[in-house]
Amino acid sequence: MASKLSIVILAAGKGKRMRSSLPKVLHPLAGKPMLAHVVNLAKKLNPDKLCIVIGHGGECVKDTIHDPDLNWVVQAPQLGTGHALLQAQPCLGQEGMTLVLYGDVPLISLETLIRLIEVASDKNYGILTAVLENPDGYGRIIRDSETNTIKGIVEQKDATEPQKTINEINTGIMVIPNAYLHEWLPRLDNNNAQQEYYLTDIVKMAVDQDVSVVSSESVHEWEILGVNSRQQLAQLERIYQKDYANKLLDEGVMLYDPSRIDVRGELICGTDVEIDVNCVFDGIVTLGDRVKIEANCILKNVTVSDGTIIHPFSHIEDANIGANCKIGPYSRIRPETQLVDNVHIGNFVEIKKSRIAAGSKVNHLSYIGDTTIGQNVNIGAGTITCNYDGANKHQTIIEDNVFVGSDTQLVAPVKISFGSTIGAGSTITKDTPENELTLSRSKQVSINGWKRPSKT
Ligand code: UD1
Ligand code: MG
Repeated sequence: MASKLSIVILAAGKGKRMRSSLPKVLHPLAGKPMLAHVVNLAKKLNPDKLCIVIGHGGECVKDTIHDPDLNWVVQAPQLGTGHALLQAQPCLGQEGMTLVLYGDVPLISLETLIRLIEVASDKNYGILTAVLENPDGYGRIIRDSETNTIKGIVEQKDATEPQKTINEINTGIMVIPNAYLHEWLPRLDNNNAQQEYYLTDIVKMAVDQDVSVVSSESVHEWEILGVNSRQQLAQLERIYQKDYANKLLDEGVMLYDPSRIDVRGELICGTDVEIDVNCVFDGIVTLGDRVKIEANCILKNVTVSDGTIIHPFSHIEDANIGANCKIGPYSRIRPETQLVDNVHIGNFVEIKKSRIAAGSKVNHLSYIGDTTIGQNVNIGAGTITCNYDGANKHQTIIEDNVFVGSDTQLVAPVKISFGSTIGAGSTITKDTPENELTLSRSKQVSINGWKRPSKT
């Protein structure tokens, strides 16, 4: 591979067809800006220099990607791909090679780029090409009819009718020896149909100087697809998700329907994990062995340990779930929650910033916030921790072996001590003694002779 590698990502184009105020390269693919996918990949090649050419919405792009390792180059006005690379030229050393990537071609793989760099092998000009059934809109690769070597690239708008029938296209991704790049870029002109400085015109310069122009193709056909419209972005999203789902299946994860899962980050699974339809995984999600995620769940930055089952329609974010827990259906687990092993959280229960120790259960219609719950605690239906006084949040502590009766309010700060039982329908405002029954409600009375009103 090239001894010194620089990478330039072209990302100055406007993306008019997105019909959006957001710069095109910031539109998300799998939950992350398209450009972030390209930057992450570029970094895997350990380049000496990584430059991003920005133009339209440049400040917004820079602020969003926000990465100290990047060299930002502003191209204004945008006069074509050759002009874009020319702006980055001062960043590039004299030695080694420069790899050109596009900010709006986000599915390109590491394997494909490594192959291209190897083909160029430090001295040749390498172009990633593709053979497309419908090459419409792309620059066509012109090859010598006898030697089959590349002689030029002609843009669609400049192509003759016979040239338009050529199916081999320029993906735009290329690797150029720096020594030539410094010589060729300043010589580009804009004498063409679009009056742009075409980067592709350097092919002719290479041919004139007997620099070999070599090509390679991508590992998967879809890697080279670019995004110009929301339709294309949606198509790429499906391709990305299908590919991710196939990788999960290959790793042994059981997806009930691989076309109905969305991973917007990283999903790390143990053995015999099962995932039912319509689940969304955001950020980094780790599932232990035999974890089962039932239909329509959303998990964001969550770790789930072995044997836990998440029933349908549960929403879990920034939480740590222990082993053999049962969550849902319809549970909401909010950030900074930790559930230890064998915890049960049932329907219409919201847990926020709380720790629940092993074997405890909150099974129905409850809110538990800013709370520490010990082991083997049972929280009855409709229990609310009143953690907020309108200005500040307060803690509730519930020690081991507590039983809280249904429809109870625990007004924080408050401690429910070891072994306490709270009678149903209580409003608890003071700490409770260990192992005793505490309740706060008026005595039940029956009014003798009372009559229900009737219509007059
Ligand atoms: C370019 C290629 C074409 C290739 C196609 C692949 C040239 C002259 N043509 O055409 O051969 O088949 O890509 O998709 O190179 N950009 C800038 N500054 C500019 C212009 C573009 O940064 O002044 C960036 C865009 O943001 C984009 C990339 O360069 O990431 C490609 O630009 P685009 O206008 O889409 O080029 P095409 O005309 O499609
Ligand atoms: Mg384009």
